[in-house]
Amino acid sequence: MKLAPFINQAQISEMTKKLGNQISQDYQKLLSQDESLLVVVTLKGAMIFGSDLIRELKVPMELDFVRLASYGSGTRSSGAVRFLKDMESSPEGRHILVIDEIVDSGRTLAFLTEHLKAFSPKSVKLCSLLSKPSRREVEVKLDYLGTEIEDKFVVGYGLDFGEKYRNLPDICILS
Ligand code: IMP
Ligand code: MG
Repeated sequence: MKLAPFINQAQISEMTKKLGNQISQDYQKLLSQDESLLVVVTLKGAMIFGSDLIRELKVPMELDFVRLASYGSGTRSSGAVRFLKDMESSPEGRHILVIDEIVDSGRTLAFLTEHLKAFSPKSVKLCSLLSKPSRREVEVKLDYLGTEIEDKFVVGYGLDFGEKYRNLPDICILS
């Protein structure tokens, strides 16, 4: 296994700040005075990106987590998505922002979006740090995206391969 530097901490931080500003501006308009944004971070991968991004948000917010599984320990999706952990708050009547770290086939976020919409939220928007458009099998509309990447397997900054490498501060290509 070889690790090659790909996106460094400074680049990640710049993307995160940009996204944070964009999101803050949009929800400043969308939220009424007594409303807060419900941020749903997908575990485990998005916990590091999520923790950096929410500190850039300048709107009232609440934090929740889901954990979905479609991947085993390999680099290919099995197709099926299921909840390992559901949210604690109700999505009903809320403005929801889902934070993910990478969109590959799109199955995870398509599944989560459908699930959330069944609870009649006011809105559901999706934010991902990375996206691999060439791998898409199901269409997902990303409202906020850090950057598109090629079909390479990346690790670090929360992203794993068989649960390893999540702690790397930079994003690296694994080969
Ligand atoms: P999707 O449902 O196929 O879009 O898969 C999304 C999930 O697959 C992500 O949240 C990651 O957990 C995992 N994944 C996809 N590509 C990569 C990668 O390059 N590195 C690490 N995990 C990945
Ligand atoms: Mg994820």
